[in-house]
Amino acid sequence: MTEMIDLVAGARPNFMKLAPVVRALKANSKALAERNLSWRIVHTGQHYDQGMNDVFFSELGIPEPDVNLNVGSGSHGTQTARILERYEAHLMENGSAATVVFGDVNSTAACALAAVKLGIPVVHVEAGLRSFDRSMPEEINRIVTDALSRVLLVSEPSGVENLKREGVDRKKIHLVGNVMMDTLAHELPKARGSDILSRLDIKPGEPYALVTLHRPANVDDPAVLKPLLECLAGFSKRLSMVFPVHPRTRKAMDEYGFQSLFEAHPGFRCVSPLPYRDNLCLMSGAKVVLTDSGGMQEETTFLKVPCLTLRNNTERPITVEMGTSRLVGNDPEKVHLGLEDVMEGRWPEGKDIPLWDGKTGNRIVEILLSGDWQPN
Ligand code: UD1
Repeated sequence: MTEMIDLVAGARPNFMKLAPVVRALKANSKALAERNLSWRIVHTGQHYDQGMNDVFFSELGIPEPDVNLNVGSGSHGTQTARILERYEAHLMENGSAATVVFGDVNSTAACALAAVKLGIPVVHVEAGLRSFDRSMPEEINRIVTDALSRVLLVSEPSGVENLKREGVDRKKIHLVGNVMMDTLAHELPKARGSDILSRLDIKPGEPYALVTLHRPANVDDPAVLKPLLECLAGFSKRLSMVFPVHPRTRKAMDEYGFQSLFEAHPGFRCVSPLPYRDNLCLMSGAKVVLTDSGGMQEETTFLKVPCLTLRNNTERPITVEMGTSRLVGNDPEKVHLGLEDVMEGRWPEGKDIPLWDGKTGNRIVEILLSGDWQPN
């Protein structure tokens, strides 16, 4: 009888990691059938807006989820509990040979917990990353998920070191590279054809910065968010800025009336969250990216675009050690100094990162086909 592998996705950053695995599974359908294996997509519904969800499925060619748990938003406890309850019910009804989870969002940790309690092996894509900052919800999700996983698929060497230090059996750890770079490499030619620059009225050759902000540490406290936005708005007199606003950030800006900070700054453009290709087009042509997104730290390193990371730490140290990222936190003075350095060309060029080669999806599927994750 054919057994199903569940691929679990819930929030925007999961979708770019899921797409290459789906592509590689499709390419290996014969080998899967020989092993009596098939797969299905389980969407938790953590992200549900058209702009945060649907657009990524259609652009990245991900099939409609087979199952949607429709959990929606809520506090961490509520959201995690809802996912746990609904995914467990799904597993009890349908069973699963393995549960593959991606990244570090609430959906990742909740589904790993539901699966492991039913004796179902968990495969974690993007395992081992550590910021060593337990005030970040993602750090908690990473630690929990890794502790529960049978197979730990790692994107950069620091992840292997972290897991070994935590006493994880070396046999469970596989350095497979960064699956999100598969999506980037696949989509870049199409992204370069996007007309987003003309839609934003950015002239050909005009330098600009791309800004994204959504971490609770940066956006939930108005005393942190306001000076940061003021600094960026001020700099937009010298360098145009495009700011796709995440729903969490939009909520905070509306609540505190921060939209008015940009009124006298026509060079600062706030827009809705962007589809993948438009965002990639903007990122690849930017003079600099300012972000608190882990994914964009990695993408700018791949693209060799300077990145001011608006955090004090990172679970992706390779982007700082070999790539183009610098940690500047959320102190406006440091952000300003970083921008000056970029403008003056005082920035590392960055190196190619081993195994960020567009083939990670295939390596993941090879491991799934090897059966290493199956119970003894
Ligand atoms: C989540 C992830 C974070 C990831 C980010 C990418 C966790 C703990 N955090 O944060 O790691 O970097 O996704 O976006 O899982 N909302 C909408 N529409 C949506 C989804 C959310 O309006 O489709 C609003 C809701 O008001 C919600 C808020 O955004 O309360 C936050 O959403 P949530 O999924 O809780 O966390 P993110 O901040 O998006």
